[in-house]
Amino acid sequence: MKAVILSGGSGVRLAPLTNTITKQLLPIANTPTLFHILELIKEETDIKSVCVVVSEDYGHQVKDELLSSKYNKHFDFDFVFQDKPLGLAHAVQITNMHIGDEPFLMFLGDILIAKEELKKAYEKFKKDNSETLVLLKEIDDPRPYGIAEVDNGKVTKMVEKPQNPKSNLCLSGIYFFKPSVFYAIANIKPSYRGELEITDAVDYPIQNNKKVSYYVIENWWFDIGTPENMIKANEVMLADLPNKISSTISSTSKISGKAFIEENVSIEDSEITGPVIIAKNTKIKNCKLGPSVSIGSNVTLENSKIDSSIIREGVKIKHAVLSNSIIGKNVEFAFNPESVNGIKTMYIVGDNTKCMSL
Ligand code: TTP
Repeated sequence: MKAVILSGGSGVRLAPLTNTITKQLLPIANTPTLFHILELIKEETDIKSVCVVVSEDYGHQVKDELLSSKYNKHFDFDFVFQDKPLGLAHAVQITNMHIGDEPFLMFLGDILIAKEELKKAYEKFKKDNSETLVLLKEIDDPRPYGIAEVDNGKVTKMVEKPQNPKSNLCLSGIYFFKPSVFYAIANIKPSYRGELEITDAVDYPIQNNKKVSYYVIENWWFDIGTPENMIKANEVMLADLPNKISSTISSTSKISGKAFIEENVSIEDSEITGPVIIAKNTKIKNCKLGPSVSIGSNVTLENSKIDSSIIREGVKIKHAVLSNSIIGKNVEFAFNPESVNGIKTMYIVGDNTKCMSL
């Protein structure tokens, strides 16, 4: 069994963060989403070969990150460049030569799920002997999603963005396919938006009286394609981290709740409320941080209040009150000292931006 991870696409909903980095490499709890996915595949399946679909713009960035990661020892990676984001089914189709004639796992590169779900779904796929097994998630409003109607252990119909949904089970972005999916994709037509839709590829065997089975995700699931979802996913993943403090914290600071603090972090005159993660070489002075904050390495924070936010490496922040924010690499915020008495503000800021009070 092999895996295909889709790491192309445009990521426009995460602009300006995605002006310099592909969304699958943006960190959740200080680790890129792609690495969280590889960790699950490593721990919960016997898959050793991973084919990654990448975009022309960011393909080399993904390739460099994966080949220089610890996962390069465990997996054999193949990279397939997709000229244009012509849809999920198109992205799967171009991996045909690499997958060959065997079943495979397909994982969208912007999806995160709790531990143990992939393992259970994989076991079910091996037992079910179906053409496809889709991982589904129960949701409150199914209208924006690809929806599966089910009966008696089988998917009976796939509907893309239904106006009057008959089911609240949406496609989660994780699938197990037999190689017959390549035949299905060759037989579907582009949708009204000009893309080859995966929903149609899943529907094809159903229309041809073949079995498509499903597994309903019991625990949490996130599509990190929007800032709001990134913040929520960060909150949930931080809650799962162990409590580990590897730096000496000044006696004038207080830490409550779970904190994962790396080496050479200095925290002075500050109040930290977990869950938080703080990467190495970061300096924090006179701040209130947390809950649900991730801070990258080499960050400097002074006289600021931050909750529910992702702060990437190299950021410098002075006198700011942030909430539900994502701050790109090497951003500098330097506001007036009085700003810290102001209202909480949400910022989504791309790399290398400077914001200063005059
Ligand atoms: P989407 O989130 O549907 O699309 P996108 O990444 O282009 O994002 P946006 O709508 O914000 O512009 O993609 C889901 C996953 O599939 C994501 O990891 C990117 C990947 N993908 C491809 O690899 N090729 C494609 O042609 C498309 C559409 C997506």
